[in-house]
Amino acid sequence: MPNISFEPSQKIWSISSGKLNYVLAIGDDLSVINLHCGGNVGLAGFQRYEGRFPFEPSLQLLREEYSSFGGLRFAEPCLKVELPDGVRDCVLKYTGHEIVDSRELIVVLKDIGYDLFADLHYRPYPEFSVVARWAEIRNAGSRPVTLEEALSGALTLPRGRPWRMTYLSGRWAGETRVVQEELWAGKKVLESRRGTTSHQYNPVAFFDRGGADEEEGEVWGCLLGWSGNWKCVAEYVEHDQLRVEMGVNDFDFRWHLAPGESFKTPKMILAYSDDGFGGLSRSLHRFERQEILPRNHAAEPRPVIFNSWETLYFNVNEENLKSLAERAAEIGVEIFVVDDGWFRGRNDDHAGLGDWEPDPKKFPRGLGPVIEHVKKLGMRFGIWVEPENVNPNSDLYRRHPDWVYNFPGRPRSEMRNQLVLNLCRSDVREYVLGWLDRLLTENDIGFVKWDMNRNFSEPGWPEAPGERQREIWVRHVQAVYEILDELRRRHPDVIFEGCSGGGGRVDLGAMERFDQFWTSDNTDALDRLFIQEGYTYAYCAKTMGAWVTGVPNFLTNRSLSLEFRFHSAMMGALGISINLLELSRREVEEARTLIEYYKKIRYIVQEGDLYRLVSPRTGCFAAFQFVTPDRGESSVFVFSLRGGFGKRHPNIRLRGLEPDLLYVVEDEGRSLPGSYLMNFGVDPGVIGDFKSRIIHLTAKR
Ligand code: DGJ
Repeated sequence: MPNISFEPSQKIWSISSGKLNYVLAIGDDLSVINLHCGGNVGLAGFQRYEGRFPFEPSLQLLREEYSSFGGLRFAEPCLKVELPDGVRDCVLKYTGHEIVDSRELIVVLKDIGYDLFADLHYRPYPEFSVVARWAEIRNAGSRPVTLEEALSGALTLPRGRPWRMTYLSGRWAGETRVVQEELWAGKKVLESRRGTTSHQYNPVAFFDRGGADEEEGEVWGCLLGWSGNWKCVAEYVEHDQLRVEMGVNDFDFRWHLAPGESFKTPKMILAYSDDGFGGLSRSLHRFERQEILPRNHAAEPRPVIFNSWETLYFNVNEENLKSLAERAAEIGVEIFVVDDGWFRGRNDDHAGLGDWEPDPKKFPRGLGPVIEHVKKLGMRFGIWVEPENVNPNSDLYRRHPDWVYNFPGRPRSEMRNQLVLNLCRSDVREYVLGWLDRLLTENDIGFVKWDMNRNFSEPGWPEAPGERQREIWVRHVQAVYEILDELRRRHPDVIFEGCSGGGGRVDLGAMERFDQFWTSDNTDALDRLFIQEGYTYAYCAKTMGAWVTGVPNFLTNRSLSLEFRFHSAMMGALGISINLLELSRREVEEARTLIEYYKKIRYIVQEGDLYRLVSPRTGCFAAFQFVTPDRGESSVFVFSLRGGFGKRHPNIRLRGLEPDLLYVVEDEGRSLPGSYLMNFGVDPGVIGDFKSRIIHLTAKR
């Protein structure tokens, strides 16, 4: 059975993608409408949504796959344009379609008057119950068109209310907290107007009818692959109909579409699960590992990293890095990363950004000796960069004050004492690509942490023609993607980590270019349980950078045991940013043992299925279980957050095991059947405040 089929008599397409069945049709008026998005229905006897009521457009219009502003349409459009002669009415009708190699459906819509086309692309990924969709708006006419809004698409959920919306919200050092609310009426908008994905909201929204939980119930997911301004609108229209639209934010957006040009929207990923939020996350994680992550490193384990930031801050130099590298190698670190502070004039965040040569006082002989030392110790060398920004107190800015976004004669607001470089300018793009390429060519560097530490303000591009001025929001992101794609092409061995003051730029668009992310500047192991839980709703553990840092934590003043800090960080791509020279012998040994253990189980964490058994939001306990795809091994991370006299945490019932297999519980020496472990459960074996344990299970085959 092909994944995409067309039934000409009913004019229906059915896209079958694992558990997700997406059905769309050509209406009598040639609009293209959604009939179904959810579990499998087949192609038979579809109810068509007709009928007109006073003051209400027909339901058919409300279920359009790609609604425009035009005719009797009053809800949030996907497309709003100004056609030649000031016409602001756009009505899209079906003109044809193509099914490409049974892998992709392209439905072509055209305005009723002008030669403006919208190609709607749908690509199913049946293994993951996912459909990726995007649109390409083409101007095939002879006069320019202005796009005022061009979203990626609309998801029409089954009719009814209330729907519950689940999303990830937060702030700097408090990203990806899970928020749930019932939607009864009106519009719920999540967005970023900050130029980047943002810490405040992540471009991810899940919907259920209120009954879904971690392991049961139907859940619909929408994710956007875009690292700039974005918008997600969930809007009730008439007839209990909730529509969800996602795409590039139309706020302050305009795109000049000259004759012959087209605009391709970012991808909107639709996902569906009938086994709760956990089931949806597991499909997404597999999808990301197999389809989204850059191919050259996708299958490799993520290395254990040492990062200098929370150890030395800006105070890095040849001597202290060399000493730390020796300790790092001793405990089993694989990549040694020098963070901020290595370049000319960079002693704090007031100066230097833009002057990308090693600071002569800190590195009188350049980076070479440190890199050689790190290599001799058996590690690879990594480096921090922040290519999109500049300190006004830098030679680069003094030479090129016109290279930043600005409106002439207006203030240039600084955030973290820096301004954003205008990557819409080709000279700036070339400069940035040039120095990064030189850095990677002239030095043996295996890892780049690409940071971005401010949001956009005064987004002026004085040199651009008037009609291009508001394209900067999109062009900047395209430029970042272009530079990264080119660097990856020229330096395929380098691993790229995405960072924006922590998790300010985590999304599926960035994940096509970054092998992993810096999840949050908050490295408190307890706070991290919450941040990491939310992160895994959408994104796989393999991409989730997590460091063990010193105590008391610089943000929360909390002191947790080294073991607890390790256990919390071992649920992602492990890193260390602790002053190894200040650790006692016993602590060094403990760190070495834990890293050694992590290396043994990391493929379970990085490639396995995640079951969020008990959420830290319950207050006193948390448990996360990773299981290998063949169900042969499992690591269960348990955390007692609060204890009390006589208080024992209840058994935790495991998931994802083979009921009939016997599993050896590593540190207990017992063998128990999968059915027992899943139905009766295991005693977490931890009591008290901030105690943790990893239970490891191996199946006897
Ligand atoms: C913000 C990042 O999130 C930190 O890890 C660190 O790299 C600093 N920037 C350096 O300025």
